[in-house]
Amino acid sequence: MNLLILGSGGREHAYAWKLSQSKKIGKLFIAPGNAGTSTCGTNVNIAATDFEAVKEFVLENNISMVVVGPEDPLVKGVHDFFLADAQLKNIPVIGPQKDGAQLEGSKDFSKQFMFRHNIPTARYETFTKETLSEGLKFLETLEPPYVLKADGLAAGKGVVIPNTLPEAKAELSEMLANAKFGNASAKVVIEEFLKGIELSVFVLTDGNSYKILPAAKDYKRIGVGDTGLNTGGMGAISPVPFADEAFIKKVEERVIIPTINGLKKENIVYKGFIFIGLMNVNSDPQVIEYNVRMGDPETEVVLPRIKSDLLDLFEGVAHGNLHEKTFEVDPNFATTVMLVAGGYPEEYKKGDIITGLELVEGSIAFHAGTTTTNGQTVTNGGRVIALTSQGATMKEALQKSFANAERIQYKGKYYRSDIGKDLEAYYEE
Ligand code: AMP
Ligand code: GLY
Repeated sequence: MNLLILGSGGREHAYAWKLSQSKKIGKLFIAPGNAGTSTCGTNVNIAATDFEAVKEFVLENNISMVVVGPEDPLVKGVHDFFLADAQLKNIPVIGPQKDGAQLEGSKDFSKQFMFRHNIPTARYETFTKETLSEGLKFLETLEPPYVLKADGLAAGKGVVIPNTLPEAKAELSEMLANAKFGNASAKVVIEEFLKGIELSVFVLTDGNSYKILPAAKDYKRIGVGDTGLNTGGMGAISPVPFADEAFIKKVEERVIIPTINGLKKENIVYKGFIFIGLMNVNSDPQVIEYNVRMGDPETEVVLPRIKSDLLDLFEGVAHGNLHEKTFEVDPNFATTVMLVAGGYPEEYKKGDIITGLELVEGSIAFHAGTTTTNGQTVTNGGRVIALTSQGATMKEALQKSFANAERIQYKGKYYRSDIGKDLEAYYEE
């Protein structure tokens, strides 16, 4: 079967890498893809949100399934676009329709959804420009630090956590009165700060049954010791030591089942991934956020641990028989270390020549932001390459990722040398 993946990051390279191993795959296309995805299939120069161009390509190339990587096309309704088109409506799209995508597209919707279905999450209130003064008063009732979230998509930058009340008030005014995040902060969710350890749990669902994928821990900040600005993610580890069987059982009972049932009750047909950002608060799960896609770089550690055929699982999602599909996970560790461009997550350069890719040994180099120019692989994004390794221990896997991080070179290369450091204590005798 011919398949099209939408997106261009490390997550999409990991999808392409895994799907290209499927017994069922025919031709694999990635739109727009990157230098890495072109080694697994054929890149197509179409933006993931150019639905008309996607349509033309799908029809001309006999595509039988579309897998959506990022949230943007989902929130903009790519799945709805397919269902509304007579020629496309029978071509399955992996990823929810607009209604389900609100779980990520609107923080206010997702908080209301959690409260409607009794899913554990922090107490919150939502404010607009008109209710700014109430918002400022609400802040006074909370303890620091303060969690302010732009309601809409803000390229991962919409959550601000000021430490003092004056900063929180200034931030709220910036977001509401001065549209700091444009239309995305027309509404702002203010919620209680949750203290605990953060992790992500991923679910694949056909709308009724589900598979719980391996959990992962992401490293969000740019600096060693979790300092500095937030990024898309600087590395990831799976499994997560504090997400043991007992904890995942609680997540299943308190979060996953109520989420799937809640979607059904609200007549939201959901076919795709649900990424649940969680805080482990004294061994109890609290939901921080939902995303309606896989995480990046979490995908780069989750997919290598899945032994089953991903395309077979996607067929289960498309046809509503996911429960019949076998799902097997490799118990070994997977780690990924992200190489980024100098300056990221602020201003950075593109177009620097990448060398040493052929020296990588014992890791998979998932390309996150690369392209090919004049036959050379060059940087094309803030996050450049994710080095994923597997091993019987976290340490063994990490050693390989770090060794290969040194073999790849480009101007301004930076990576966090402390990925996994915080978890070492869990594995000491
Ligand atoms: P997001 O951009 O939505 O992934 O959120 C950014 C980060 O803010 C999360 O990964 C958490 O580390 C943090 N965060 C969000 N909500 C809370 C909360 N209620 N309590 C503590 N930290 C939070
Ligand atoms: N790594 C976090 C995300 O994909 O949202």
